[in-house]
Amino acid sequence: MATAPHMELRNVGKRFGGVQAVADLSLSIDRGTIHALVGENGAGKSTVGKMIAGVHRPDAGELLLDGRVVRYHAPRDALADGVTIIAQELALVPQRSVLENVFLRSGRASHLTARDKRQRYAELQEEAGFEVPADVRVASLRVADQQKVEILKALARDAQLIVMDEPTAVLNSAETERLFHAVRALRDRGTSIVFVSHFLEDVLSLVDTVTILRDGKHIRTGPAAQESPETLVTGMLGRTFDTSFPEKVPVAQDAPVVAAVRGLCAAGFVKDISFDVRAGEIVGLAGLVGSGRSEVARAIFGADKRDAGDVEVAGEAVDIASPRDGVRAGIALLPEDRKGQGLLMQRSILDNITLPHLDRVSAGGVVSPVREQKAVDDLISRIGIRASSPAAKVNTLSGGNQQKVLFAKWLFGRPSLLITDEPTRGVDVGAKRAIYELIHSLAAEGVGVLVISSELEEVLGLAHRVLVLREGRLVAEFDQSQMSEESVMRAIFAADAGDGEGLAS
Ligand SMILES: Nc1ncnc2c1ncn2[C@@H]1O[C@H](COP(=O)(O)OP(=O)(O)OP(=O)(O)O)[C@@H](O)[C@H]1O
Ligand SMILES: [Mg+2]
Repeated sequence: MATAPHMELRNVGKRFGGVQAVADLSLSIDRGTIHALVGENGAGKSTVGKMIAGVHRPDAGELLLDGRVVRYHAPRDALADGVTIIAQELALVPQRSVLENVFLRSGRASHLTARDKRQRYAELQEEAGFEVPADVRVASLRVADQQKVEILKALARDAQLIVMDEPTAVLNSAETERLFHAVRALRDRGTSIVFVSHFLEDVLSLVDTVTILRDGKHIRTGPAAQESPETLVTGMLGRTFDTSFPEKVPVAQDAPVVAAVRGLCAAGFVKDISFDVRAGEIVGLAGLVGSGRSEVARAIFGADKRDAGDVEVAGEAVDIASPRDGVRAGIALLPEDRKGQGLLMQRSILDNITLPHLDRVSAGGVVSPVREQKAVDDLISRIGIRASSPAAKVNTLSGGNQQKVLFAKWLFGRPSLLITDEPTRGVDVGAKRAIYELIHSLAAEGVGVLVISSELEEVLGLAHRVLVLREGRLVAEFDQSQMSEESVMRAIFAADAGDGEGLAS
């Protein structure tokens, strides 16, 4: 492995308004290595990547490429030096072909004849160690293959240093493995890679060197072989991390039922589901993917049509035919698929949180800015959204903080019943614990919570009571004294429902 510094950052800083995104960072990316950047949401990883690639200009310090000071004013300046970034949001033109995308604005290569382009495309595939059909439209490719097109595009521009910002966030494990194979092949040909990811185990299996950032500051850089997921987490958070769950607060004996579901049928296969959620109670919904968990959630909220059945909220029958009805009835659903779940990227945090609930902050139809501001400030600090101010546009937030805004948006409506589907997917470990605490404190305030999670540990760690779905039916129920990993697993997998109060016929 070559070890000459390819890119060096010396005392680099970057500030956005009141936020010091990166401070006095010195770092060396060696040629022909894969170098990971890890850190909590908002630690500054993407900002570092964007400075390297000319998207942002540092406001302190300097960048050196092969020992020479460089000043990039735009991505194309970095590209001229063979430096580029593959941002988390793919930047391809979906309606055009793979070939067209790869050579789009690629400098000299965009002027090649059609024949030469095909020739060059073949070479690029060879270089990358993978193939993508040249003539299909990008829109028709799987995300993993789109990711490969981005890599080919980077190579077509003669990139020697490629920043990849969370390239695996949308990939499944087989796709991730294929991508890693390609990345290693590039490294072995002398390309340097800066790799940003929250999947710490993946990071350690792929990269040569790891840099930990915290609050925009450099914590340490060292060989991946000397780190473990635990040491990385400790470095990222600045403390050892308590992976336990917050202590469960018992539900009051006389707690009223906040939501009653009766005979719910939905999505053509969810049949006859009935259960109650009481104020302060956290109910877990367990089951395999496809068992009907998300369908139950969506039908209760009004996101999908109910085939039959009733929902009562706070003792009153409610007629829920749309999410709007659900919100009005006091139900919030934080859905599984949070990308494209309606964050208005160009608008402020404040707007995103309050727009769906304007009736709540307005007195007599007039929005009260003071009340709105106060309620939003409370939420922002409770959820730990890191931003310069509530007026900050959502597109200036780090990825993880955007997710927290989504959470805030739903909580702002003060729901009686909060349904969270995979509440911690894609957030860093610190935020995970913060979300657990948030769920607990909402319950303590009398909200009923329905938690869906594929991580059984999460369901058991949070819930007072666990319901198990299998093939669209409620097959078992476990209270605190009965729930164990084994008993719930058995119910999930249809092996005899164990000690649980078997509901199956
Ligand atoms: N264009 C921008 N305008 C204003 N503030 C910004 C901008 N880009 C980033 N920031 C702020 O800089 C800080 C660092 O953000 P950055 O995106 O680098 O974090 P990150 O480590 O990539 O986080 P994540 O894991 O959530 O993606 C955050 O507080 C963020 O809100
Ligand atoms: Mg980021």
